[in-house]
Amino acid sequence: MCGIIAYSGHRPSVPVIVEGLKRLEYRGYDSAGLAFALSGQIHLYRASGKLEVLEEKLASETIIHATSGIGHTRWATHGLPNEQNAHPHLDPTRKLALVHNGIIENFQKLREKLIKQGHEFQSETDTEVLVHLIARGLQKTSSFPEAISWALSQVEGSYAFALICKDHPGKIWAARQSSPLLLGVGTGENFVASDIPAFLQYTKEVVFLEDGELVEMDASSWQVYSIKTLKPVTKKVQHIAWDVQAAQKGGFKHFMLKEIFEQPRVIRDCLAGRLDRKDERVLLAELDDLPVPGRLHIVACGTSYHAGLWAKYLFEKWAHIPVEVEIASEFRYRHLILNPDELVLAISQSGETADTLAGIRLARGKGIKVVGLCNVVGSTVARESDRVIYTQAGPEISVASTKAMCSQLVLLYLLTLYWGQRQRVLPHDVLSRSIHGFSSLPDILETELPRLREKAASLSQEYARARSFFFLGRGINYPLAMEGALKLKEISYIHAEGYAAGEMKHGPIALIEPAFPTFALALNDELLPKVKSNLKEVEARGGKIIALTHPRTDLKVTHPWEIPLLWGPLNSFMVLPALQLFAYEMAVYLGKDVDQPRNLAKSVTVE
Ligand code: F6R
Repeated sequence: MCGIIAYSGHRPSVPVIVEGLKRLEYRGYDSAGLAFALSGQIHLYRASGKLEVLEEKLASETIIHATSGIGHTRWATHGLPNEQNAHPHLDPTRKLALVHNGIIENFQKLREKLIKQGHEFQSETDTEVLVHLIARGLQKTSSFPEAISWALSQVEGSYAFALICKDHPGKIWAARQSSPLLLGVGTGENFVASDIPAFLQYTKEVVFLEDGELVEMDASSWQVYSIKTLKPVTKKVQHIAWDVQAAQKGGFKHFMLKEIFEQPRVIRDCLAGRLDRKDERVLLAELDDLPVPGRLHIVACGTSYHAGLWAKYLFEKWAHIPVEVEIASEFRYRHLILNPDELVLAISQSGETADTLAGIRLARGKGIKVVGLCNVVGSTVARESDRVIYTQAGPEISVASTKAMCSQLVLLYLLTLYWGQRQRVLPHDVLSRSIHGFSSLPDILETELPRLREKAASLSQEYARARSFFFLGRGINYPLAMEGALKLKEISYIHAEGYAAGEMKHGPIALIEPAFPTFALALNDELLPKVKSNLKEVEARGGKIIALTHPRTDLKVTHPWEIPLLWGPLNSFMVLPALQLFAYEMAVYLGKDVDQPRNLAKSVTVE
């Protein structure tokens, strides 16, 4: 979950690396560092805290002539987030420097063995063990791929790393196992990084490394090898259509705000090529050769899990498919009874979430087909699933997921229609109203977003002092209430719980008092009368209520928040940004670090 960038080319490497690290900072940001080989030695710069601390250190240096090097931004897994544990790490003779993402699970055993052989360690990290091992390998052979292969044969766990050597300035070696790593191929320059935005401003030509692969590169050449056999592997260079602008803030104060406002575009992109409006059909050719599942297991974490919960209501109602929605970290350790006609749908924005990947591997190990729904082309979820459906959200930089969930909801909705059609159970008016509704949705949302933001900002002044919040909903709005609570807690640090409105009277209502507000989803649907009764119960205990509602619902609450009425589940696409903007404005009002909330990282590649 750390960020890695390595560069070899014709430009001064330090600014390229620092710039790349800035784009990767969302992957982890408790320390940062870089190293390069110059004049027969390794030059190392590290700092605990955010990247700007490292930048301050570098600013006091005189001109640096290096044109290659490696950089890292860290999210601690082993050892405190201090300078000593920051990457890069060196071997005992300071000949090698290495940056690493992942966890070496048997590092303790390896470390003890190395200590017995006379090695001294400078940090508490598992990474340092890896660079020491490679150094030992180089005592047996002068070939770097051979030494790396020898070292990795002893390592258990996950890694993506990049390595440099003082004797070979310009050369970079990198390898991956269960952690993302890719190669950016430029003209007279090449990159290795854990994520595309790190080098997107220089090249859009990408080679996705697979588990068990090792790359050796310099400014003008690169070659991929199998780590095990050291045989060369032929790789395809893929063109990535993302533009640099998309990976930057585009005039918004925060990535989160920009990404919320991108949702109309995201909906358009997700629908592109998916709706045959003439024949009123949904096109998901990726799945045409798979039977409609007898039961669906949706496996995901966090926001993606909430998207799965939301979709359950649709799949059951319109596709007549029974659905279990599972938190991936629980799914992977259950004694699963899966039948051959069942299917796992793994939802992951990043495509790298360790628990979701474990769920995929478990299901496939039991002979169950897996469909991945993910946002990152070439990610591990995409590669390891039997079929993949890409959400078209573009790079999501803010740690709090917003537009990615929107894209997941669109694709899950389409998938329901698609399977409902194949099962011949989808009411025709549902299909035509959905197709029609989706066509106008992006424009309506575009007009409405500034108004939603204004209202959210005014409510934040009223409610930012609250210590706790309930988010309540029923039916399809219940998962959205859970998402509203997650967004609020993760970026504003206000405690929040998402509840099924009908469940309040079974315990949680005891907490209600004037200082404990409730955010209710009281939309004009068949469950509105029930939600109204639940809100009366809250009111009777002196609780203040914000209610997201539709015109003419005659709702008497402290702060009604009216949004335009759409058709059926399309209303969720208005509710979702309202919840996101409420959390956003609360966090901004409280002066929180919206894009990089404390203790979190964008892509959770450890258990
Ligand atoms: C919350 C958030 C997380 C992710 C979760 C799964 O805003 O972003 O809860 O949704 O870590 O991540 P992916 O979807 O990348 O598997």
